[in-house]
Amino acid sequence: MHEPTDTPTDARATDDAHEPTDTPTDTRAIDDARALFDLSGRVALVTGGTRGLGLAISRAFASAGADIVVASRKADACDRVAEELSRAGNRAIGCACHVGRWSDLDRLVETAYAAFGRVDVLVNNAGVSPVYATLADVTEELFDKVVAVNLKGPFRLSTLVGERMSAGEGGSIINVSSTGAVRPTSDIVPYAAAKAGLNAVTVGLADAFGPRVRVNAIMPGPFLTTIARNWDMDVLAERTRTFALRRAGLAQEIAGTALYLASDASSYTTGSIITVDGGAQWSMPGGGDAR
Ligand SMILES: NC(=O)c1ccc[n+]([C@@H]2O[C@H](COP(=O)([O-])OP(=O)(O)OC[C@H]3O[C@@H](n4cnc5c(N)ncnc54)[C@H](OP(=O)(O)O)[C@@H]3O)[C@@H](O)[C@H]2O)c1
Repeated sequence: MHEPTDTPTDARATDDAHEPTDTPTDTRAIDDARALFDLSGRVALVTGGTRGLGLAISRAFASAGADIVVASRKADACDRVAEELSRAGNRAIGCACHVGRWSDLDRLVETAYAAFGRVDVLVNNAGVSPVYATLADVTEELFDKVVAVNLKGPFRLSTLVGERMSAGEGGSIINVSSTGAVRPTSDIVPYAAAKAGLNAVTVGLADAFGPRVRVNAIMPGPFLTTIARNWDMDVLAERTRTFALRRAGLAQEIAGTALYLASDASSYTTGSIITVDGGAQWSMPGGGDAR
């Protein structure tokens, strides 16, 4: 039933005696909502920042005022992106790094702190999902690589940076997972398992590094990045017909969620795993445009 309009819904207005005096009841208005998303003076480290979702995130963070450390395996690609971001007025450096190798991660962290003295936002975005013909074709090497890049590396980098954030001015860690973590299919079993592990790492590290460091994950559905080069577009079209938004995502459409999680806009959000999939999680056979 609707609330009658003259019913007082604010207990403080009628019964101050019930309000403990030391309870924070700050309801100040937000004067400048854009300031919530401002990253000026902050430093963001983005792995896999040279292409796809990571590039879109790096550009969005730079546009919000952050200085950026761009990491991927290829030094020239990192330098190219860093140069692009620097032209827009930010400070940005590239650092070649294989995120599956812990010695590379030590070097990445040293490079970032030597250049900027701090990291306020870490985005564990680099990931791989190699194709295989059958499950029996999954080699030990492939399995280990998938786990190293999607799970082992993000865990290690988060602990290295999270400890420093925690001892310093705090920060935000964002893990780029996948909806495959919660809806695995036969073609991505090792990848899905690694991303499910990354979700668990997200929740565990949110507990470990709170209250000064927030740790969250984004679970993207299908996005048209270089990963999509191997996809059968007819199959994708058929699949996305049942999504609420009837299509796959574009890389820049991840940026808003990443910016939310990086910034003060999400100051009370940690240990959360946010799905960004165009409504794919609710799609049903025969739903959407397939009706
Ligand atoms: N696109 C999708 O549909 C989708 C869906 C769900 C989740 N995701 C996740 O989103 C993240 C980004 O995916 P994307 O689609 O943007 O991929 P992408 O276009 O293939 O870009 C991958 C990025 O990661 C870097 N990278 C790959 N292996 C690396 C390694 N071992 N060490 C360091 N950097 C490495 C690549 O640069 P180098 O080649 O120079 O190393 C590149 O910058 C991944 O974690 C992926 O699992 C994507």
